Amino acid sequence: MNRTIGKESSTVRRILLGVTGGVAAYKAAELARMLTQSGIDVQTVMTESACRFVGPVTFQSLTGNPVYTDLWETNAAANMAHINLSRTVDAILIAPASADFIARIANGMADDLLATLCLARECPLMIAPAMNRQMWENPATQRNLDLLRADGVTIFGPASGEQACGEVGMGRMLEPFELADALYGELQPKLLKNKNVIVTAGPTYEAIDAVRGITNISSGKMGYAIARAAVEAGANVTLISGPTCINEPVDTKLIKVMSANDMLEKVRDEISGADIFISVAAVADYRVAKPQEQKIKRTEGAFSLLLESNPDILKFVSNLSEPPFCVGFAAETENLEHNAESKRKNKKLPLLVGNLAQNVIGTDECELILFDDEGKYPLSKATKYKQAQKLIKHIAKLYKTSKKNDNSND
Ligand code: C5P
Repeated sequence: MNRTIGKESSTVRRILLGVTGGVAAYKAAELARMLTQSGIDVQTVMTESACRFVGPVTFQSLTGNPVYTDLWETNAAANMAHINLSRTVDAILIAPASADFIARIANGMADDLLATLCLARECPLMIAPAMNRQMWENPATQRNLDLLRADGVTIFGPASGEQACGEVGMGRMLEPFELADALYGELQPKLLKNKNVIVTAGPTYEAIDAVRGITNISSGKMGYAIARAAVEAGANVTLISGPTCINEPVDTKLIKVMSANDMLEKVRDEISGADIFISVAAVADYRVAKPQEQKIKRTEGAFSLLLESNPDILKFVSNLSEPPFCVGFAAETENLEHNAESKRKNKKLPLLVGNLAQNVIGTDECELILFDDEGKYPLSKATKYKQAQKLIKHIAKLYKTSKKNDNSND
């Protein structure tokens, strides 16, 4: 029987977007539009210098809300109400955060409305620095950022690249879509807080000789998205990855491997203390029996390679005497349900994620079916990141139940 996974209620409802003085303020307008379009109530507060780069009317039009700029607003309707803004939002995001504003909040100053709201708050504060390379590299700025980090402020970016002043280097504000993603991620419920999670991802590469090998077309995107969703859910994540072209994910311990045997070795090294093992890697079933050290020379006629079987890493983990909660993946080209269920039983998995290989490998979006003891849960087409978030939610629920059952059996 098909079941549905509880529709995600948005965890982010109301955001205070603080805009400070920098050229990147124009990108904040795009961010305000994106957040508003995704159903978030965006309350904008601008510093005086931000208003020199972009007008408050822009944000007012894009968010449908009044824009606050003045600590000394005496209009009766707004009087003091704007000071309460920070008490009614899920988070404050300052984008762009100028070097001057960073310096002011790092030192607890409350000399304008936005700085006052940052001081008089209990909600999370996130900042997206944007400034010239030299200002970013200046020890004073770095010192201020360290102070903010120590105070629990989250810092998004900056990125490196061409700057408005013509220089190239660190200090560019992240793009609006990156900030929107980072914001949602930061505010996810911490369903796996302090849990140790190992994710395997990507293909493996089995050498034939010094320059050639056998691999597959797995991109690693799903595994990396799951690692990211697990980090956002508060887990300590170790990502053991075959060769991919994906950027190193933030806040994970990334271990790069090539072959299935390398991957098994690293899994063995890391597995003690793991609470959850998510095996997303497309591990090669076979390796070349005798890889050559030198490049094999072409000869006339047929050429054959003797292959031998690779270890099944997931099976190794699920057969440990005290295995972590194991999740497998099955990319099938046919008979998905039948093959997925028999794999789940064969590998003794509480949860297996099935998909059709031809629709999923290398793509950014996919459909998935989750198979567990209770039945199957189809997840309709969505980005791999969205699917990863749903999967992590389901894993957290099953993991919690399995721990309860373990305790009641003690
Ligand atoms: O049997 P099959 O390869 O389809 O099983 C897929 C699942 O098993 C995936 O979770 C994959 O990461 C894992 N696996 C493994 N080691 C192998 C082969 C598959 O861990 N040698």
